[in-house]
Amino acid sequence: MQTPVAERFQQNGFALAAALVDGPRLATFQAEADRLVRRFAKEGHQSDDYWSFDQAVTREPVLYRIHNLEKQGSSPISDLFADGPLHTLASVVLGTRVRSTACAMIVKMPRVAARVPWHRDRTSVAPHTVCNLSLFLDESNADNGCLEVVPRSHLLPDDADVAAIHDRGPVLAIPAHAGDVFVHDVRMVHASRANGTAAFRRSIVIEFAPLGLELPSSEG
Ligand code: NI
Repeated sequence: MQTPVAERFQQNGFALAAALVDGPRLATFQAEADRLVRRFAKEGHQSDDYWSFDQAVTREPVLYRIHNLEKQGSSPISDLFADGPLHTLASVVLGTRVRSTACAMIVKMPRVAARVPWHRDRTSVAPHTVCNLSLFLDESNADNGCLEVVPRSHLLPDDADVAAIHDRGPVLAIPAHAGDVFVHDVRMVHASRANGTAAFRRSIVIEFAPLGLELPSSEG
């Protein structure tokens, strides 16, 4: 029998919950993600919440993150931010009542998405206190931009050298299916790969903290 998600989170700083969202429910998130990405890529929508970089050769803007996702006027996603299966999972792994504190979509555009460098989302909180949940909307694998982690690195001191931690490893790639939810401690050292394929790799990321714990704003 597989070790429960909460136990794996406590041991390693991360855990994958398979097929947490499926069927028509997953399809509503995928359709909403299509709409939001199309606004930027095809309709010229610009806002401070749509983060992009300029592609090296074409100079075309490449979308990589939609910040404040719950405020983009889309009910399936704002509902997910308000309450639902991700809140339940976060409450189980953190062992307390939780609130959602931030929401974004990670977009790995086909062929042009860059890798995200090694980083920690936060270090100002104790291990096993605040977590990020990533709901995958597409298959995520080593070729199209999957996450990579250094297991148990969430236990290292706040001022630990991220580059040295990554060099020492071990580095674990985290493939996932659409509908899977990846939970990780915000302190964990992680990165994500570039997308060299013709397929999108998108995920909705929501941060959870215990009720009553005030957090400074995060770069995510
Ligand atoms: Ni991150």
